[in-house]
Amino acid sequence: MLKEKRHTLSQAAEKLGVSPATIRNWIKSGRISQVTKSDKGLIFQEQEMNQLAKAIESGRLPYLRSRRNKTAVKTQAVPVGYLAVDCYNLLAEQLLEIALQLDPECRVILLLLEVYLQLLQTQGKIAGIRDLNLPLTLTWLSGELDLAAYTELAKEMLALLPDLRQAEIEKLQPLVDLEFKYVYGQDLLGLIYMSLSSIGSRNQTGVYYTPDPIVQELVENCAEYLAKQEPLVIDPCCGSGNFLIALFIKLKRRLSQQGLTVEQVERKIVSQLLTGIDIDPIAVILAKMNLSLLLEHPELVNQLQVYCQDTLQTVNPTTTFDLIIGNPPWGYKFKRSELKQLSKDYSTAQQGGGESFNLFLEWAVNHCAEDGLIAYVLPEAFFTVKAHVHARRLLMRNGSWKLICRLGFLFPQVNAPVVSFVYQRNSRLRSAQVKIMEENRVYFITCQKCLLDDYGSGIFATPLERKIIGQINQAPNLKYLKNNADFALGIVTGNNRKFVQKYADPDHELVIRGKDVYLYRLKAGNNYIHSQLENYQQVAPERFYRAPEKLIYRFIGKYLVFAYDDQQLLTLNSANIIIPRLQDVELKYILAVLNSRILQFYRQVAFPSVKVLRKHLEMLPLCCPEREMQAPVIRLVDQILTSDDGNTQYLLEIYNQIDQLLMEYYHLPAETQEYLKKRYPQIKYL
Ligand SMILES: C[S@@+](CC[C@H](N)C(=O)[O-])C[C@H]1O[C@@H](n2cnc3c(N)ncnc32)[C@H](O)[C@@H]1O
Repeated sequence: MLKEKRHTLSQAAEKLGVSPATIRNWIKSGRISQVTKSDKGLIFQEQEMNQLAKAIESGRLPYLRSRRNKTAVKTQAVPVGYLAVDCYNLLAEQLLEIALQLDPECRVILLLLEVYLQLLQTQGKIAGIRDLNLPLTLTWLSGELDLAAYTELAKEMLALLPDLRQAEIEKLQPLVDLEFKYVYGQDLLGLIYMSLSSIGSRNQTGVYYTPDPIVQELVENCAEYLAKQEPLVIDPCCGSGNFLIALFIKLKRRLSQQGLTVEQVERKIVSQLLTGIDIDPIAVILAKMNLSLLLEHPELVNQLQVYCQDTLQTVNPTTTFDLIIGNPPWGYKFKRSELKQLSKDYSTAQQGGGESFNLFLEWAVNHCAEDGLIAYVLPEAFFTVKAHVHARRLLMRNGSWKLICRLGFLFPQVNAPVVSFVYQRNSRLRSAQVKIMEENRVYFITCQKCLLDDYGSGIFATPLERKIIGQINQAPNLKYLKNNADFALGIVTGNNRKFVQKYADPDHELVIRGKDVYLYRLKAGNNYIHSQLENYQQVAPERFYRAPEKLIYRFIGKYLVFAYDDQQLLTLNSANIIIPRLQDVELKYILAVLNSRILQFYRQVAFPSVKVLRKHLEMLPLCCPEREMQAPVIRLVDQILTSDDGNTQYLLEIYNQIDQLLMEYYHLPAETQEYLKKRYPQIKYL
């Protein structure tokens, strides 16, 4: 029998084009499931790697899709990484199949209610059920089941239905054959809600909650910095209550050590310490249901402080909290009138385009007690993008960061790295040290000042990285592209399906996409667009595409990838253009510098962004010696440009020769040269 091929961690990372840290995150969040441990480290299955590689390439979400119901396959998805329990993923899949039989108007409510009742039943929280072969919702509505303390929650849920039809409830019948197990502290309801929200209309926004391991980790991290034994805690955008669940469990453990009875502990948490708010009425009921499942004293259910409100409209700075935690909405599009209204209370509504997470940060600063903590999950771009500098400065004025965890590409639907952080509001003390945690390393940064500059330049740099950045900045003959280059964006057609065709004809010409750009060279695909550029939504002046010589680069990606073009080719917006105008510096020499390990490193450390932004490129230090010294580099570049495709070993040798020359031009010490070679042993996109 043929043995299936396996990959090590670094091979898997290489294959998928991501870092080993990302692979580890994907294991944590369940995106990669077939992994075993051996004495050589983690081992991955070829088949799963191939599937993932394909999904990434095509931009599809690596979600678990239903295999049985073909009609559902396109739209339905269980986010398998949300919970750490596999049995719930399978259960959610089965529940979705049942949900699809129900009227879309009522399936979410009815299914969630029935699941809640089933969970109560398996936990023995509701008694006296005579017929377990009927959906519990039906039994309850026919008056044969008393939900006692849980009645109000069930009623609240039903009240969200436009109308109640017995025939729809009867369609829940297959659900009674499923095996329900209550796994303490696991948000099955949220998992189902997320999955259901992805069914139906393609334009539906969907609900994305924070995976359980990340929630647990952030709550644990906060506990380390939280001095108070009985802190007032709030999640201002609590969704189905995943943070509230973790906080309840944590607080219950803490308070139980003080010699209080279970009833006293639960009462204190529920009626004093723990608050949740969300604007989504279904999510709010789910959060309450989730907490009710944890309570040993059901009579406290009606004291739960989870409210359906718009947090941003709930401004009351006299109420402050010791911990404000959660994952606020990102990129919510406020209407202009809403922003105008919000700008009365929030400076971030005017500055930086009114990004919703910045408003939630400002809300948190205004409602955080002295020495209290703010712990949010945000895109890493918060620290590195100019649009957020106002919010960063606001936080810097009011306290300091304690810990930032770099989580990588956590959410399958968001193509951006994510961080979680713990920040302490404090008007007196400013701690200079921030702990940075990544998958494979922990280090401290001392420079919070960089957060004040537009791009948070080098925020995540370790001391060694910072030292090397300093050495590069000290190189002789430095020049910059700022004011010394023309930049042009690739074409935005407005509709690639309509305008990009797969064959050439007299009216259509080759167009380059980001994917076609490799180091030094283009490997053009077969994409053609009409040569009449006025048809398209956004086009740079044609002379840039038609320049005798230009550089084309990938706009998105972890790496700088620049190619040479003297064929006057058009590009789409995933591939942008630079035409340098630096005096006495040859274009092919600049190409070599931009593709070097030195600038890969510089850009990744100083500007860790997925987009290769013009502003960043303009700030890269290009070491430009006189022409005689450029000449040997250019000769090597020409060798790459004229070499055969596929001879990667030969290309790598030349790439290394170029790098060696450049490292000497930059006057980098031997140990830095070694470090850079070790950091980038393999050269992607060669
Ligand atoms: C990314 S989800 C996070 C949910 C949950 N805390 C988690 O981390 O998984 C963002 C939540 O913010 C809620 N939300 C959006 N705008 C809001 C507002 N103005 N006030 C309160 N909640 C809001 C959404 O309904 C959604 O549940």
